[in-house]
Amino acid sequence: MDRYLVFGHPVRHSKSPFIHTLFARQTQQELEYGLAEPAVDEFAQALRTFFDQGGKGCNVTVPFKEQAFTLVDRLSLRAKRAGAVNTIKLTDDGVLLGDNTDGAGLVADLKSHGVTLADSRILLLGAGGAARGALAPLLAELPSELVIANRTHTKAQQLAAEFHDLGPVTAQAYEQLAGPFDLVINSTSASLQGELPPLTPALIHTDIAIYDMMYGASDTAFISWAKQHGARQIMDGLGMLVEQAAEAFTVWRGIRPGTKQVLRELKRNLGVI
Ligand code: ATR
Repeated sequence: MDRYLVFGHPVRHSKSPFIHTLFARQTQQELEYGLAEPAVDEFAQALRTFFDQGGKGCNVTVPFKEQAFTLVDRLSLRAKRAGAVNTIKLTDDGVLLGDNTDGAGLVADLKSHGVTLADSRILLLGAGGAARGALAPLLAELPSELVIANRTHTKAQQLAAEFHDLGPVTAQAYEQLAGPFDLVINSTSASLQGELPPLTPALIHTDIAIYDMMYGASDTAFISWAKQHGARQIMDGLGMLVEQAAEAFTVWRGIRPGTKQVLRELKRNLGVI
């Protein structure tokens, strides 16, 4: 049977096996999908062993995405732009192809929520790996403006300069943000520590959409904050998780699984519905 897995550390709580097993059942593909948690300095060896032993493809998550970028034979354009690899496929001619489906997953999830990106003003919080992966796919949707704000402002400036040729992207300091924005996307890891990016509630207006790339069984700090200040539409990153997985599954198997039912089952599994 074709073998896939996700590499990460820690990875025990990953929902990827659950999601890909449902995709395989739905599309009647024969495959198995597991977990691998190599020590941080043993990822390269573990990756090689997996493919030497017949593995067909893998996902890569924290903290291995940047290292995976350096280990594959070839990179997709979106992986090059993201500077990180979250999906690897062994091609029929034995090449390890590195791809990145995170940004596509974000955009697909936003669209499935009915969010209009064309001509919109987007505020992207954070300038780390998650922001980098999101930039090109967001700019491809032709927003009228994409502003990056980051705690370390120079990192936002560097990122904006790097993606400037792809669209109207600029950097603004948190304390100087000039709204109104139609959509605010939190790509920071602040929610992991229960913290909030330093935003003023004045940014929230009745028509704003709020997206946190993080998710949890209960609301993240950012989502609680947005609810408290009356944002119209509030979304967490669970849908992005399922959409990036669907994109990876499509890369591997050449068949696109449906995501709605799988997202519903995942929510049930997590106890959020
Ligand atoms: P990832 O790959 O998940 O993006 P990362 O590269 O470590 O992780 O980036 C984390 C991002 O969250 C950074 O933009 C970081 O800001 P700095 O560049 O100033 O470090 C941001 N971040 C983390 N904790 C934060 C907090 N409490 N408030 C605001 N931003 C925070």
